Parts: sequence; structure tokens; C-alpha cells
Amino acid sequence: MSEQQYKRRVRYAGKHPRKFSEKYKEHAPAKYPATLQKVIESGKTPAGTHRAIMVEEVLEVLRPEPGAIAVDATLGYGGHATEILKRIQPGGRLIALDTDPIELPKTEARLRAGGFGTDVLSVVHSNFAGLSRVLAGQGVEGADVILADLGLSSMQMDNPERGFTFKFDGPLDLRMNPNKGRAAARLLADISAAKLEELLRENADEPRAELLATLIVEAAGKASIETTRQLGEVVRTACGARREEADATIRRVFQALRIEVNDEFSALETFLRFLPQCLKPGGRVAILTFHSGEDRRVKRFFDEGLRSGEYAEISRNVIRPGPVELRANPRSAPAKLRWAIKGSAKENG
Ligand SMILES: C[S@@+](CC[C@H](N)C(=O)[O-])C[C@H]1O[C@@H](n2cnc3c(N)ncnc32)[C@H](O)[C@@H]1O
Repeated sequence: MSEQQYKRRVRYAGKHPRKFSEKYKEHAPAKYPATLQKVIESGKTPAGTHRAIMVEEVLEVLRPEPGAIAVDATLGYGGHATEILKRIQPGGRLIALDTDPIELPKTEARLRAGGFGTDVLSVVHSNFAGLSRVLAGQGVEGADVILADLGLSSMQMDNPERGFTFKFDGPLDLRMNPNKGRAAARLLADISAAKLEELLRENADEPRAELLATLIVEAAGKASIETTRQLGEVVRTACGARREEADATIRRVFQALRIEVNDEFSALETFLRFLPQCLKPGGRVAILTFHSGEDRRVKRFFDEGLRSGEYAEISRNVIRPGPVELRANPRSAPAKLRWAIKGSAKENG
């Protein structure tokens, strides 16, 4: 038997695999559907997958119809995209973007294998800040529906090699597109305490930003911080007696760095600025956010768009996941959904 044909699975100690790379059944959902179901029923997300959030609410807001031109600005695992694709047939088309060059080809392969050909689905590796350029390249003047489900996918979050999680050790990277910009470890190597304090405050509402920034920069000066666990330990030590708060603090530090290395707020603002011109008159947009920095920006741009007449209607309040979803998928807890509808041609004229 050739080496190619026979691939030994990763061995793990104990009864159950613990590490992301060892969960070979979860990584092959088509082959092991029962394992997947069991993991989902326990309220967890199977390794290498993502559970789409607030799907019903998103569909209710977007109302995708047969023949519609739709955009999924954050394709991820393709959960929302699949539901939209089902509803825009016959005659519709979905243009799907994602900035992640590692997960995007896997998702595209899965969707193609699921029967969505190039006539109904175009997959583009792009930051959504360039949406208007992408649409022009696809020969599309405006979309009927646009969805953006911000932040990270579970595939990114759970894979230690991507450096998004402090639960397992890995390189301190935190880039959604590792071919662009610099890893978080490089950022920490030359950041000043004042700049780090600003990032912690602005990107993660960190209440002890000044103290944490000083201690992290001090630690980085003594020995470079290269891994997720090293950074986690530095923050844990800085938390001192408040150990019970340590995990939440580490999470905020990771969030602040992630937003910076991916330039997330500037990408979101560019996307929001160009959104109205990417929509057809009467077109609908839905945006799922996961922390206050994102939600504040979406709210501000939608409010301004309503005042200027670019939008005919916007959500008055945020829509949150219901109790059933919160129990079934705790990762949905921070989600907030906002929507806007572009004015019709008559209203705009
Ligand atoms: C929460 S996941 C989307 C999950 C998806 N809705 C699903 O059902 O599987 C967010 C995705 O957005 C992508 N992303 C984040 N910021 C982006 C940006 N500025 N441009 C394009 N994609 C982005 C991430 O790489 C990630 O795959």
C-alpha cells in the first residue's frame, strides 16, 4: 500500500481526543454525522466547523427571493450562504467573500460538492472593504440582499495554529489573512505601552488598560512573547489576585490585538461607507456584530444613512438570539443583529 493511500490517524491519550488536530471525526462531518450530532447536542461546535448564528432572524430580515442577487460578505463555513442559496433559486446568484485564504477553499469545495455551481455561486477571496470593486468585477450593479456576519469563524478560533485561542498553545498570530500585515507577536515586539493601552481601551473596553499595557510591554521587553500561552500567562500574572477574572481579561487582550492586526475597524467603516451604493433600490442589508466596537459603528452608519435618505428604514433596536439558540450554542451569546433597507428609486429621486 502506498504512503498516500494509507494515512494513519493522529493518536491521542485517554478515551477522547482533546486537541483540535486529534478530533479527526469532527473534521470529517460527512463521514461521521453521528459524532457531529452528539457534539452539537452537547452545546459545542465540532472542530473544523462553524454553526451559523441567528439564521432564522437573518432570513426574516433579508427576505431573499428567487432570482435575487445576494452577497455574503463573510462566507466562513457557508452556513448562512447555504440557506440564502436555497431561497434565491431559480435564477438567483450569490457572491461570497472572505478574507481567509485557508478556510475559503475548503468552504468553496464543500458548497460546490453540495451542488452549487459557478452559475449560482461566485466565491471571491477579498476583504469586504473592497465589496464595490468585487461587485463591479462580477458585472453586478447592485445587490438585493447583503449579509455580513462579523468577526471570527469557529474554524479560525479553535485552530491553535492560527493563534486566536489561549486555551491551547500556538504561535501568537491572530491574522485572518496570514499573508497580509504582521502577526500579533511582531506587533507586541515593538508596541509602546501608551499605544497598547489605547488598543485595549478602544478595541476591547478593557477597564484596567493602563496597568495591563504597562505590565505586558514590560514582560515583552524582558523576553519576547511568541505564543498564545505565553501571552495568556503574562496577563494571568498581571491579574494577580483577581484570578477568577483572568480568562475574561485574556479574552479582551486577544480581541484588542486581533482587531489591530486585522485592521478590523477600518475595514468595517469602509464597508459601511460603500454599502448603500452596493445595494439596489429597496435592497436589504443585515449585519451581525459580536462586540460593542462593531455594533457602535454599524449603528452610527445606519443612523447617518437614514438621516441622509440613503436608507428608507433601519432597525430601531438590536435583535438578539433567543433562549433556545443561546442554550444550544453559547457562542451566539454576544451576537447583535441590525438591518437597513435602501430607499426605492422614487424615494431617492
Ligand atoms: C463569523 S464568521 C462567518 C460565518 C458564516 N456566516 C457561516 O455561516 O459560516 C466570519 C467570517 O468573516 C471573515 N471576515 C472577517 N473580516 C472580514 C473582512 N474584513 N473581509 C472579508 N471577510 C472577513 C472571517 O474570515 C470569517 O470567515
